[in-house]
Amino acid sequence: MKKLITWWRNLIDFQLDDVIKDGNDYFNNELNCMIRKANAQDIRSILMVERDVYLGELPWTYTDFFTEISINRQAGFFVATIEEEVVAFIGLRAQKNTLHISNLAVKRQHQRMGIGQALIEMGKAIGKQLEISQLSLEVRFSNKDAQAFYRKLGFHSDKILKGYYTELKEDGIEMIYQID
Ligand SMILES: CC(C)(COP(=O)(O)OP(=O)(O)OC[C@H]1O[C@@H](n2cnc3c(N)ncnc32)[C@H](O)[C@@H]1OP(=O)(O)O)[C@@H](O)C(=O)NCCC(=O)NCCS
Repeated sequence: MKKLITWWRNLIDFQLDDVIKDGNDYFNNELNCMIRKANAQDIRSILMVERDVYLGELPWTYTDFFTEISINRQAGFFVATIEEEVVAFIGLRAQKNTLHISNLAVKRQHQRMGIGQALIEMGKAIGKQLEISQLSLEVRFSNKDAQAFYRKLGFHSDKILKGYYTELKEDGIEMIYQID
């Protein structure tokens, strides 16, 4: 088991060097936006992105982010920065033959600039490199904007997850992207 986890971690590290290169592979350089692996020092900035996006609410706590960034060895967590300010983040988790998007957000001021798309394209590239067949995620039933975003990027949805968001008493939708 330990060997398998080390294998995954090494691949994520390998992917960062090999796929992201200068951090600008997925952007037009006018944005001067970089993607890098997150570390525990980023969590306060990540929480600011979350607070901005969810209008003061924090669906994930400091501990949730810390677990994904520093403890869960099957998770990879990345931030996008502009002039060193964290403006977006994405969390990925390896689950069997699926790369699961555990969390994704882009600060409101920086939305519709292609940053979310770049983070997803990076996820697709990581999945391909790991020879994983699909990306998956859950999204709130009411979050039509995010659903439109994922559909634009080739995700499809056919499964309603009844009562998935227990605290919000809301259904979820599972969305899948098949990696070719
Ligand atoms: C969903 C989200 C991550 C998208 O990030 P983004 O950086 O704004 O998206 P992009 O600029 O890369 O958008 C790429 C394309 O997706 C589509 N899209 C993005 N946001 C959209 C919206 N609000 N409504 C409809 N389509 C949208 C568009 O086709 C867009 O291309 P265009 O701007 O050229 O028309 C961002 O809006 C966000 O953080 N939302 C709040 C948090 C959230 O809902 N996270 C997902 C939880 S599962």
